[in-house]
Amino acid sequence: MKESARQARAESRIIGFVPTMGALHAGHTALAQRAKQQCAPVVASIFVNPKQFGPNEDFTKYPRTLEADCEKFSAAGVDALFLPAAAEIYPSGFRTYVTVEGLSDRLEGRSRPGHFRGVATVVLKLLEIVQPNFAYFGRKDAQQVRIISQMARDLNLDTEIVVSPIVREPDGLALSSRNAYLNPDERRAAIVLHRALEAARAELTAGVRDSLHLQSIIRRALQAEPLAAVDYAEIVDADAFEPVTRIARPCYALLAVFIGKTRLIDNLYIEPVGDSGELAYHL
Ligand code: PAF
Repeated sequence: MKESARQARAESRIIGFVPTMGALHAGHTALAQRAKQQCAPVVASIFVNPKQFGPNEDFTKYPRTLEADCEKFSAAGVDALFLPAAAEIYPSGFRTYVTVEGLSDRLEGRSRPGHFRGVATVVLKLLEIVQPNFAYFGRKDAQQVRIISQMARDLNLDTEIVVSPIVREPDGLALSSRNAYLNPDERRAAIVLHRALEAARAELTAGVRDSLHLQSIIRRALQAEPLAAVDYAEIVDADAFEPVTRIARPCYALLAVFIGKTRLIDNLYIEPVGDSGELAYHL
């Protein structure tokens, strides 16, 4: 992989990169298609990264669907697949980790200690190996994208981080590899995340800017679903991921909710446009 990347760079080709853990869905292939519009070659990786799973998380049962994934990436126009073995990424004696301070220990980081250290470490390694000009990530993992962008800036990486919109099922459920864990009742219940974010959007459209009020609207919507247990539902500014009292700058409404045993995340990105106090919503 390193040799191919070196050669592509020497020929001034524009390398696009889509890092994944496999179990691909239309959100992943949308990233590859976007990369295809801007880059050649497009490289994708599939690596279920053990370092980003906590001891009680789903590393061993994380869905692994390599054959179907290869077909999906190939249909999306991916030119090369990088499928490293765990021992190549983490040879014995591995000791070096990347921590993006502050941003990594709240919200997802508080619920999943060590998660973002594992993400930042593997993403830096993958970027070092693949040497992409552009790397593509989905906004569903808003905090992950923020942390990776910060890392790229702090470490002067030669890769531009490109963020793509959330891809949803027709009923609004955000696509996620973990949706495969949901039984039919849980699948029906899971749309409550989208419903809660839609409720917040309706309040914002009606002029509400107070984030405590918005948070209570979101929580009420989530609590109406008996199969849902809220991990967090917070409104934070999109830069520091700190709570805000009013929506006056780019913000996220961020959700992490257990549906049965499956933990799902989703978000609404809210962005002031112009000076009129008007907002744009990205759901
Ligand atoms: O978003 C993911 O699938 C993973 O966190 C990533 C970025 C591929 C790192 O393992």
